[in-house]
Amino acid sequence: MLELRHISKVYGVDEAQVFALNDVSLTVAKGEFVAVMGPSGSGKSTAMNILGCLDTPTSGQYLLFGSEVSGMDRDQRALLRRHFLGFIFQGFNLLARTTALENVELPLIYQGVEVEERRERAMAALAKVGLEGRASHRPSELSGGQQQRVAIARAIVTRPGLILADEPTGNLDSARGREIMELLTQLNREEGLSVLMVTHEPDMADYASRIVTFVDGRIQCDVLKGANDAA
Ligand SMILES: Nc1ncnc2c1ncn2[C@@H]1O[C@H](COP(=O)(O)OP(=O)(O)OP(=O)(O)O)[C@@H](O)[C@H]1O
Ligand SMILES: [Mg+2]
Repeated sequence: MLELRHISKVYGVDEAQVFALNDVSLTVAKGEFVAVMGPSGSGKSTAMNILGCLDTPTSGQYLLFGSEVSGMDRDQRALLRRHFLGFIFQGFNLLARTTALENVELPLIYQGVEVEERRERAMAALAKVGLEGRASHRPSELSGGQQQRVAIARAIVTRPGLILADEPTGNLDSARGREIMELLTQLNREEGLSVLMVTHEPDMADYASRIVTFVDGRIQCDVLKGANDAA
């Protein structure tokens, strides 16, 4: 489904050069649930930004759903994001003055989906995360865990093939974090949604079927959990 081929990302020039990513190659198949781990500054968010078509590498190739992202311009990448990717962030990133329903509808507005279908699909997505009863609440009227569930509804409402999550449980207590992970696991298993998630917490990474660890801009290890369990 996606493939990074010898991707490097370099910030700064001359002595100030930082290799945020240094010759990273990675293949992820459809339906995988991958946790990305590693110390602070190891390149996890840089990799996620490239995978999410939000940023471009300094060198290397990125193939997503069979298309070469490295050759696309900004507009083409935006289109790809809008139709095929869902994003979940540590800080939820909901619009404060709008209701849960309107927040979930937003990606469909960008897609030009008409109002009736929009409402229906946004309500269905809220139901999937167990929040149909909170549709008219604003983010400030929801708990952290509920806000993150609204963000998940927003990420899945466009029926993307891939969800990219950068520390989705970073602002939640561990019980709330586990609820979010159970929801992501369910979407992965039942809807075949591929998930790539950055986390610092081994407990959260445990929900994934594969763990990729970054150190100093390189992939240090890449472990399939099934293989691990058998050992
Ligand atoms: N815009 C930028 N300009 C210069 N250097 C950057 C920029 N963004 C990231 N870096 C550097 O690239 C490296 C990788 O950063 P990145 O944000 O990918 O780390 P991370 O693994 O996500 O860390 P954390 O766990 O703290 O979120 C770091 O050394 C960082 O300082
Ligand atoms: Mg980061």
